[in-house]
Amino acid sequence: MVKVVLDGVSKHFNGTTAVDKFNLEVNNEEFMSILGPSGCGKTTLLRLIAGLEPVSEGRILFNDKVVNEVPPRDRNVAMVFQSYALFPHMTVAENIGFPLVVRKNPEEKTNERVKEVADLLQLSHLLERKPKALSGGEQQRVAVGRAIVRKPDVLLMDEPLSNVDAKTRAYLRAELKELQRDIKTTLLFVTHDQTEAMTMSNRITLMRHGKLIQIGSPEQIYEHPRDIWSASFVGNLPMNLFSCKLIDKKGIRAIAASCFTPQSPLNIMKKLKDQKDGTQFTLGVRPEDIEISKTQKSGLFCEAKVHLLEPTGDSLIVSLKVVDTIIRAKTKPGFKIEVGDQVYISFEWDRSHIFLGTNNSELISDMNP
Ligand SMILES: Nc1ncnc2c1ncn2[C@@H]1O[C@H](COP(=O)(O)OP(=O)(O)OP(=O)(O)O)[C@@H](O)[C@H]1O
Ligand SMILES: [Mg+2]
Repeated sequence: MVKVVLDGVSKHFNGTTAVDKFNLEVNNEEFMSILGPSGCGKTTLLRLIAGLEPVSEGRILFNDKVVNEVPPRDRNVAMVFQSYALFPHMTVAENIGFPLVVRKNPEEKTNERVKEVADLLQLSHLLERKPKALSGGEQQRVAVGRAIVRKPDVLLMDEPLSNVDAKTRAYLRAELKELQRDIKTTLLFVTHDQTEAMTMSNRITLMRHGKLIQIGSPEQIYEHPRDIWSASFVGNLPMNLFSCKLIDKKGIRAIAASCFTPQSPLNIMKKLKDQKDGTQFTLGVRPEDIEISKTQKSGLFCEAKVHLLEPTGDSLIVSLKVVDTIIRAKTKPGFKIEVGDQVYISFEWDRSHIFLGTNNSELISDMNP
């Protein structure tokens, strides 16, 4: 069982820095997701851990042992790729057993282990089939079987679910999570799908431009984003962002939406208590933390006009025009509302976020991969 440590690890490819001074500790038996937009260095990070690429700087340790110079075959690491490339001419059993056969394990032992893995992955009834006679989800399970057959200390998965349809993906997500718990392997799971990362992991490492941005449990990442980029990247619907200005500590005013005035909630003012009047900041509110009402209530609210309705079955996404800004709110399905309606919105202030010294426009480019 292995703890994986990256200590100041960088990888440069002539001119491109794919991984930038990365410090990371993945605990023994942990399910760690690496989440970030396309091109941020996720695959490179896995390849460095597997030993398929040499690091440019820094050290990689497995249980306090530096493995920089250890060749891939001696690291006891297995990797599952996005295109899981099963051998088409081999049966399921032969595909799963392949890593044992090339290492010249005795035939009897190999067969025994293949049977064990097939049972674990519910593939026992398919052992004699060839990959082309399997569904995408089944092929994926064979690829996982091939990876775990040698009992790797570290399992690396690079977007393993991206080639299967949405329904199969949801079901494989639960299956993989259960499998990892059963086989007790340290798992690094690369994805750019934040639902995958949120639902499966013990912790998430958020990565951008080769750098580690934030690390924490799914709840920590969602509830306490470190910066405006984390806040916007994680969440099925982007967080609503308002450019604001501190007027005089008694009130904040949203420049974009000119609605939070004159009194401001205490918790917001607490977060701003060390700031000077005139300080610019960004207020972030998630769509599920916006309440819509048709009548004017007391307290803080602003007026909005219903711009677009998107029913998703289990919720209703309402786009609202506030002055000239469009924001999105998530409500219960069946909420009676029409496009063009005048409504009043209020925020769940305890769950809103304040970001100081950040520039909104800088993050928009890679928010939605
Ligand atoms: N062998 C290589 N030679 C040169 N540049 C490379 C090489 N491999 C990766 N890169 C560059 O390093 C950066 C990170 O690439 P990487 O494949 O790790 O990203 P990723 O996060 O896995 O992206 P995706 O989500 O699209 O798979 C990219 O800019 C890429 O072009
Ligand atoms: Mg990749």
